[in-house]
Amino acid sequence: MKVLLTNGSPHADGYTAKQLRIVEEALHEDGIETVWWQLGTKPVRGCIDCQHCTKTHRCAFDDDGANELIDLLDECDGVVLGSPVYFAGGNGAFTAICDRAFYATCNWESTLRGKVGASVVNLWRAGATTAIDNLNKYFYASQMIVATSNYWPLMHNGEHTEREDRFGAKVMRNLGHNIAKLLKG
Ligand SMILES: Cc1cc2nc3c(=O)[nH]c(=O)nc-3n(C[C@H](O)[C@H](O)[C@H](O)COP(=O)(O)O)c2cc1C
Repeated sequence: MKVLLTNGSPHADGYTAKQLRIVEEALHEDGIETVWWQLGTKPVRGCIDCQHCTKTHRCAFDDDGANELIDLLDECDGVVLGSPVYFAGGNGAFTAICDRAFYATCNWESTLRGKVGASVVNLWRAGATTAIDNLNKYFYASQMIVATSNYWPLMHNGEHTEREDRFGAKVMRNLGHNIAKLLKG
């Protein structure tokens, strides 16, 4: 079984990546494979409602990672959407790609139906829960099972406080184990 870890931060080795690696470690401990998708730093197009994807299962814009994300969503049994919090939502470039990839997928033979999804967000101070709520909507529209943990799936980056979010790390580990449990049935 394989879980897709998406890093919706422009920083391939930033806080969101570190947070996702904690989830990954727990998944590996439970025998679940992982594969990564990384947001780039190139310009990203928003969805233009051209409906190309509902006929072809491909996004008409092929140069910013959306089609790679579609392929990975098809291939994997679960997905973790990871994003930094930007103005109490997910990163706009990341959610623009998710709009296109999930629209192409949830309108195509229900390929995500019954798969497991979880959102995790990284932030400085505030706005995490609205971002999590928004990201979870991709799963609700795709007939997916949303994995939970023992608290909201967020981690504070510790900047300005210089404190490690040890509780957040435990929540991430627990989330990884819960995803594995759901996948194994
Ligand atoms: C445009 C922008 C908006 C942000 N908005 C918020 C916010 O609403 N709340 C918050 O706590 N942090 C906010 N941040 C801080 C990031 O969420 C934080 O630095 C995060 O740890 C970055 O993760 P990364 O290293 O994976 O990119 C914002 C950062 C940027 C660049």
